[in-house]
Amino acid sequence: MSTTNAESSSSTHTSFSAEDFFATQPAPPQLGEFGRKAQEFVAKHVQDGRRVVLVTSGGTTVPLEKNVVRFLDNFSAGTRGATSAEYFLAQGYAVIFMHRQHSLQPYTRHYSHTTNPFLDLLQEDPQPSSPARISVEEDQSFHLLPVLRAYHSARSKGTLLQLPFTTVTEYLFMLREMAIAMKPLGRQGMYYLAAAVSDFFIPSTRTSEHKIQSGKGSLLIEMDQVPKVLKPMVERWAPEGFVVSFKLETDEKLLIPKARQALQRYGHQCVIGNELNHRKFEVVFVERKFSKSDLAPVPNGPANDSSTDEFTEAWIRLSEEDKKMNKSRTLAGSARRPSHVFEPHGSRPWRGKFFEKEIEEDIVEQLLKRHDQWIAGGEAHKSNDR
Ligand code: PMT
Repeated sequence: MSTTNAESSSSTHTSFSAEDFFATQPAPPQLGEFGRKAQEFVAKHVQDGRRVVLVTSGGTTVPLEKNVVRFLDNFSAGTRGATSAEYFLAQGYAVIFMHRQHSLQPYTRHYSHTTNPFLDLLQEDPQPSSPARISVEEDQSFHLLPVLRAYHSARSKGTLLQLPFTTVTEYLFMLREMAIAMKPLGRQGMYYLAAAVSDFFIPSTRTSEHKIQSGKGSLLIEMDQVPKVLKPMVERWAPEGFVVSFKLETDEKLLIPKARQALQRYGHQCVIGNELNHRKFEVVFVERKFSKSDLAPVPNGPANDSSTDEFTEAWIRLSEEDKKMNKSRTLAGSARRPSHVFEPHGSRPWRGKFFEKEIEEDIVEQLLKRHDQWIAGGEAHKSNDR
């Protein structure tokens, strides 16, 4: 643990390395149980020859008290993570969905936290019967059925493991635990880090035991920096995994430089940049050139428009038509109804009429190609060693 004087203030800040953090902060009580569940899940899917992706999703809290009454939080609802998890499942992956408790979940997201309340789909059967029967409104069952089928398919195949966290400390411990559990997958494992992780926290030694009392004037909180765990993740916890991190900025000009910086610092495979207000319509893939040489360009370019010798950048953008349709559906109060759950891998006859296009569909499609190549690279490696 090192202590530095920040240039802009006279106060002292402690910066934790990942090792210090794990050695000094309390592990969540459910960690062992979650670790065992993840190991069993991974063992089953390794045996079945299925790839596994860890999707992290939602925000993290920073509690101000140990008996927590107040906490700091961020905006993330878990839409990116929950939506992407569905597309990974539709593509045959098994998914460990490590999510912020009470954030959006795969499948149920279509009817939760939305203007499309589940109870509005149901009606009591007009024919008297005992017990009374409840059915789904006819025009609604068309939309519900594909979601229900995809949900039951994931359940019956056992391809979705949902594990919740709340605080940033829980998140970091669980991330390490999941990476360790996924080691047997080697290159078949993917890490899709879409959670919005707090950059600051209050170490447990400085967190008030009880509710902070008011009446003493203003409250000053000093927070320490959360260690960046991508480095140990790439170097030690998941050296063979295909690691995708996200970069969120509110100033679009910072997206690409920050994403490149992350690739240089942590040495992983891909950063997906997104700007807060446009994140549902456009994202940029930033990668090192050598890792991407013969991949198909990302659709809806301009692809590679600001690429350099070292990095490539390629945008995914929803078409104006899809954007317009999504907006009108949102205004009409209807929930997101993706096409993939209706016609996995197949044609999409309903697109444009009933279902809106989600950008996560393209993100996942692009990542599949990259993951294929990453796995093939590993195979080539092995055969060269022989
Ligand atoms: O949930 P939604 O409302 O749909 O929003 C989705 C999203 C905007 C939150 C998502 O698309 C996104 O961008 N997530 C990452 C936000 C971000 O910029 O995180 P960051 O800069 O704090 O971290 C960058 C990467 O490092 C992330 O992949 C993060 O998971 C990882 N990280 C962060 C902090 C930390 N201590 N260790 C990490 O490994």
